[in-house]
Amino acid sequence: MRKIKIGLFGFGVVGQGIHQVLGRSKNANAEIIGICVRNPDKPRAVAADRSLFTASPDAILDNPEVDLVVEVIDDAAASYDIVRRALLKGIPVVSGNKTMLARHLPELIAIQKENGVALLYDASSCGSIPVIRNLEEYYDNDLLLEVKGILNGSSNYILSRVFDHGADYADALRQAQELGFAESDPSFDIEGYDSLFKLVIITVHALGAYVAPERIFTYGISTIHDSDIRYAREKGVKIKLVAQVVKVSDECFTMFVMPEFVTPDKYIYSVDDEYNGVVIRGECYDRQFMFGKGAGSLPTASSILSDIMARLHDYRYEYKKMNFLQKPDYTTEITLRIYARYSETDVPHILRFDRIYEQYYSDDSNYVIADVSLSELLAKRDRLRSEDVFLANLTRFFQDRDC
Ligand SMILES: NC(=O)c1ccc[n+]([C@@H]2O[C@H](COP(=O)([O-])OP(=O)(O)OC[C@H]3O[C@@H](n4cnc5c(N)ncnc54)[C@H](OP(=O)(O)O)[C@@H]3O)[C@@H](O)[C@H]2O)c1
Repeated sequence: MRKIKIGLFGFGVVGQGIHQVLGRSKNANAEIIGICVRNPDKPRAVAADRSLFTASPDAILDNPEVDLVVEVIDDAAASYDIVRRALLKGIPVVSGNKTMLARHLPELIAIQKENGVALLYDASSCGSIPVIRNLEEYYDNDLLLEVKGILNGSSNYILSRVFDHGADYADALRQAQELGFAESDPSFDIEGYDSLFKLVIITVHALGAYVAPERIFTYGISTIHDSDIRYAREKGVKIKLVAQVVKVSDECFTMFVMPEFVTPDKYIYSVDDEYNGVVIRGECYDRQFMFGKGAGSLPTASSILSDIMARLHDYRYEYKKMNFLQKPDYTTEITLRIYARYSETDVPHILRFDRIYEQYYSDDSNYVIADVSLSELLAKRDRLRSEDVFLANLTRFFQDRDC
């Protein structure tokens, strides 16, 4: 069997993991023949042949021996440039960069088709959980109703500490950073953007539809307050940061990322700590659940390895669902029932509620439970992103159709 010669971009958490799993896997017919990083002289925790390192992307992209580029760098703009150039040269690519992919997938799909070249990226969406290839190959568009899950390990770790261990939010965030689950600038994780970018990629393979990230309502957990946690505990639910794409009719689907009150009967209720969990729901098979490590060096590298090995058999995504004649359209004209807690910001005057069920006022904190359209939330999102406002979805609207 032929051996794949890899040009690797990035030798950080994931890049070093790839080097390790390739070394461990007895059946991996692949070798790394060049490694491009920002600083080739930097000391590395995982030892690799120094002669492989370069700071020049051209040294990899112009090397005729490279037959696969594996891109795991932390700079989305540079990643776009590298991946695009490789594909235009006809070199297949495996990437883990969700930020880059979520922004540029339509163009990168077109380049793949025009150049007959493959771009694989299962690691970008749920670390070690093979959600992309399963959605692409197994789940048929007409039957699939919903993909919903906890896609970000850092925010889930923080929420688990708060709920199950009584930690306060600031301590939980600090612990997540110390353990390497959260970035030193954690906003990408806790404001929901990491989950959002993953959801954009998942939706391309779930429903054949690309929706640009800025069109999707995203609200994070950074404004969570003791009173929200108390409220959730009293109701016997947990607060989780949930990303979801849901078919709301035969013609339309919707998607959003926001905290949710999750009841104990839901699969994702027991997805704790840094784990991820994805529920896939279809008309005939009801609910299926995938659970596992969504990040980390070796778990992510094992997903990259799976994509590398898939290239030995010339595997590529066909994007079959994008060519279906009847594809559902994206809509934000749906009603959500939300919990909105606020103090200074006058939420009831910012949001036009369709119906109010419960209102509570006190000296330091107020909340309202009400129906509101997703389009209204999207239109007002900048005014709602205030330190004293926390929003959570109550899944009642989707009661009969919810994972
Ligand atoms: N960490 C995870 O658990 C995980 C999971 C799934 C997906 N991902 C994705 O995988 C990618 C890498 O993540 P990571 O955690 O491994 O990041 P990381 O530890 O920060 O490592 C980033 C690597 O990229 C290199 N790099 C940055 N800019 C570069 C450029 N312009 N040209 C060449 N190399 C460059 C850095 O070089 P130096 O070492 O010289 O600075 C470093 O080796 C990101 O897109 C991330 O979203 C990560």
